[in-house]
Amino acid sequence: MARKTVYRGKSLAAKSDKDPLAPKGRSKHWFGQKGMDGFHHRSWMKNQGLPHHLFDGRPVIGICNTWSELTPCNAHFRVLAERVKRGIYEAGGFPVEFPVTSLGETLMRPTTMMFRNLASMDVEESIRANPIDGVVLLVGCDKTTPALIMGAASCDLPTLALSGGPMLNGRYGDETIGSGTHVWKFVERQKAGTMTFDQMTEAEACMSRSVGHCMTMGTASTMASMVESLGLGLPSNAAIPAADSRRNVLAHMVGRRIVEMVDEDLRMSKILTRKAFENAIRVNGAIGGSTNAVVHLLAIAGRMGVNVSLDDWDKFGRDVPCLVNLMPSGKYLMEDFYYAGGLPVVMKELAENGLLHKSAKTVNGKTQWANVKDATCYNRDVIHSLEKPFKENGGIAVLRGNLSPSGAVLKPSAATAGLMQHRGRAVVFEDIDDYKARVDDPKLDIDETSIMVLKNCGPKGYPGFSEVGNMALPAKLLKKGVTDMVRISDARMSGTAYGTVVLHVAPEAAAGGPLALVREGDMIELDVKGRRLHLDVSDAELAARKAEWQPLESPARGYAKLHEDHVMQADTGCDLDFLVGKSGAEIPRESH
Ligand code: FES
Repeated sequence: MARKTVYRGKSLAAKSDKDPLAPKGRSKHWFGQKGMDGFHHRSWMKNQGLPHHLFDGRPVIGICNTWSELTPCNAHFRVLAERVKRGIYEAGGFPVEFPVTSLGETLMRPTTMMFRNLASMDVEESIRANPIDGVVLLVGCDKTTPALIMGAASCDLPTLALSGGPMLNGRYGDETIGSGTHVWKFVERQKAGTMTFDQMTEAEACMSRSVGHCMTMGTASTMASMVESLGLGLPSNAAIPAADSRRNVLAHMVGRRIVEMVDEDLRMSKILTRKAFENAIRVNGAIGGSTNAVVHLLAIAGRMGVNVSLDDWDKFGRDVPCLVNLMPSGKYLMEDFYYAGGLPVVMKELAENGLLHKSAKTVNGKTQWANVKDATCYNRDVIHSLEKPFKENGGIAVLRGNLSPSGAVLKPSAATAGLMQHRGRAVVFEDIDDYKARVDDPKLDIDETSIMVLKNCGPKGYPGFSEVGNMALPAKLLKKGVTDMVRISDARMSGTAYGTVVLHVAPEAAAGGPLALVREGDMIELDVKGRRLHLDVSDAELAARKAEWQPLESPARGYAKLHEDHVMQADTGCDLDFLVGKSGAEIPRESH
């Protein structure tokens, strides 16, 4: 017999708020009850000083907060949550803030990516288990955005995402510096002997000088832009700086709007359609967005049951030029982007040229076109037109061949034009420890025509799919003035990084993919235009090597084991296989 876990065994398919199982009525099954259960549900809540009229059936709005002092990019979220609450109260709702697992990119080991799916489970179960009719997701640092959207998608309530906003521009001496991007530059300068350790220390505070997330077009800003382009956030969500009072105004308006969304039964599934994903893929190309968006959007689509594939990234992003002159591809930062008009200008440019589904619906109840048609560009050096783009190649290139049968990705806008077609000798690092131990060895047999290959850093390998794919170049080549080389791995790359870097090779080495079989001295061909990645070794030789291949030792217990046993490969979004899809927000049975 199937285990019964839902109230009356019914799903939330009803649309009218007269139906007790409609989202607006969902919380009534806790707070609207009489007798002992109603007493339980209301009485303990009242210890927070809540008056009885809040339990009169008004929409209960969960504010899903990733605030944490260990996630510095989200450390201002308590303030933001208070502003959302103001809006909710003003619109007649009942706000309830709750914490979920936070994912601090700069501190968590081995990598936040390993915990994205864990956090998404926390979000999904927290929403479903509680008397919540609609949800506001407070997102910011890289993985907090996809984790919360994935978890909420599996519940499919009316949901609005609010990004925390980027930090103000960094400034070191007379140089404008960007989060992450300048860390790589500083490390290279230190390796080349042109920057001292004390100067590096001084630059730390110069880079991170306000609340907010990375202010380059790294993964956080990319994902904030994805929120807006998917229609899940209000217009201007992506770029208003965290320290700008208009970010608090946006939070206030989010609070007002989510109450209306519950009344309108405007659920995630009505927003996150195939059209919304196609829009987001094109916007990613136009902003020169992070390669990380590929895995995150694939995972979100998987939760929603929308059929989006890795090839869609090439199909819809291939002809989209990069319009935005932001680091790491360009020279400006998110603060400049906001002053120039922000993402609505980019989306208007795409829409006017047939590259955006104008009719896609958004959380404010309007179409994308209605939201962006009046956008004005105030600085064409920051946001270029489609006619005169910043870079011709914006989207993500998906590469296939005998080295990446399930695909690999490369970000052309961050790569060197002269290396987009290249044949070179492999210099192989078996894992990240091997790389660290040998890369700066003066005896390492490598020159600028070599191709650096890194194995065992994929979803299972690191474990968790770390951002080490943009391996720093050997010190001896940096000292010679070499600035880029072809690098290939099954790892990811920080959205703030740059270079001719082939990432997400699938299947990964730890899963026995062909990458595991590459040996020192093999010749590799990269042809970005032809979308090809080829290992010039015969099939017979590869089969012989495969017979000798030994898998890595698996984790013995805990979440690491669950992750390794169930994580999917990069080309399908790296979700845990049993989390794909959604279960809705059915009401669990009473525990007493
Ligand atoms: Fe949090 Fe970059 S470290 S957004």
